[in-house]
Amino acid sequence: MARETWKNNTGFILAAAGSAVGLGNIWKFPYLAAKYGGGAFLLGYLLIIVVIIKSMMLAEVVIGRAAHKTSVGAFSLLGSKKWKLAGSFGVIAAFMILSFYSVVAGWGIYYMVETALGKLNGIEDPKALGAFFTHFSGGLVAPIVYHAIFMFILVFIAIRGVVGGIEKLSRYGMPLLFVLAFILAVRSLSLPNANVGLTFYLVPQWSQLTNPDLWSAALGQAFFSMSLGMGVMVAYGSYLKKKANLPRVSVLVSTVDTSIAFLAGLVIIPAIFAFGFPNTAGPGLLFMVMPAVFNQIWGGQFFGSLFFFLIVIAAATSAISLLEVVASYGVEQLGYSHKKSVILFGTIAFFIGIGASYSMGPWSNITVAHVLGVSSGFISHVPFFNTNIFDTLDYLSGRVLLPLSGFVVSVFVGWFKIHVLLKEITNNNTVDFWWQSYFVFAVRYIIPLVTGYILLFSIGILHSGY
Ligand code: TRP
Repeated sequence: MARETWKNNTGFILAAAGSAVGLGNIWKFPYLAAKYGGGAFLLGYLLIIVVIIKSMMLAEVVIGRAAHKTSVGAFSLLGSKKWKLAGSFGVIAAFMILSFYSVVAGWGIYYMVETALGKLNGIEDPKALGAFFTHFSGGLVAPIVYHAIFMFILVFIAIRGVVGGIEKLSRYGMPLLFVLAFILAVRSLSLPNANVGLTFYLVPQWSQLTNPDLWSAALGQAFFSMSLGMGVMVAYGSYLKKKANLPRVSVLVSTVDTSIAFLAGLVIIPAIFAFGFPNTAGPGLLFMVMPAVFNQIWGGQFFGSLFFFLIVIAAATSAISLLEVVASYGVEQLGYSHKKSVILFGTIAFFIGIGASYSMGPWSNITVAHVLGVSSGFISHVPFFNTNIFDTLDYLSGRVLLPLSGFVVSVFVGWFKIHVLLKEITNNNTVDFWWQSYFVFAVRYIIPLVTGYILLFSIGILHSGY
């Protein structure tokens, strides 16, 4: 039976970019950049994209197309059964990410509504905007309601198979978001004092680059933002036609994703300095800064709610890929129907998400170490045991499981399957692949070494001394 394929590369590019471009670019990248010294983080991030991510992206896409199967299935088909494990890290990570992702997307819905109602009109003071965010996100009921709305819509889309609808929406929405972000960047950059922020964002403080925590954050963020390490790109690659130019599409998707993250930084970071927000505002940064920017533009109430609406759409196209990773695991490995799998896993992710949401308020002091009742010994050095539920989910998925899966995938491709896969990449030597020798070197040596080394820091085996 012929497997369904994308009509052309555009189908793949849109779906892959739809998954990649999401809260990672617009919400997470700017606050990490602000936290890790601006220019130093940007430089580290870009280096990781060029040195590691483009090859990783290609590695995942080619596994998918070679096997014509989604993640866990692809590994066991191409390799032996034990490679299934490689696919499994991704499923667990997808599940954790989905839980807190939906919470943040819920914040997006809330801000869309509040902005449309004019509740944020005229508020520009960082303290007031900070308090507005903290009051809402730390609440007992409201954030859970919005989180529930987002998860419900997601499950509905996945069950009804109206994925096509949301993709169409994003096809028009994403270019609009890009244009809007561009205008906002111009506005942000023309605010008084914006040049201080611009310098902070573009000129690295070299001393920061020796901080392993920066590298661990940048690596995790790069995987997260490109939807790598979970088999999403494997699955999408499996639908590519045999004559598609894999190196070209992989590079294109990662370039689009990086450009949008960079642009989001150009909007947020100058504004931080112009209004005097703290760099270390963390996960609330986007939501605190943007209302201040909208106050400074004509039609801010309208454009502000449009902006948050488009963020929610971007979040939905990404979250659907996360939910599908988990759901197809249920279908392929546990024998559930698709509907049962979507509802079951969506519901569990919702409940875990409540813990993530409460980390912003009532449960801000609850840590894994606390729950386990241990506070000394090895555990006290493992970063994710000492953080709240939100941060633990974020850290464990992004900084541990995704790089771990990158490690395993690169070893699989570089040391076990390189010959078959090179043929697959070059369509039997008919496609120009000028960076082939770099690719081979990267999947064999660079990616396993770098991800392996950074992992040792992330799990607390090596200490940074910071
Ligand atoms: N890339 C998405 C973002 O930047 C998040 C995401 C969707 C993701 N699917 C993924 C991350 C798969 C890792 C793996 O918002």
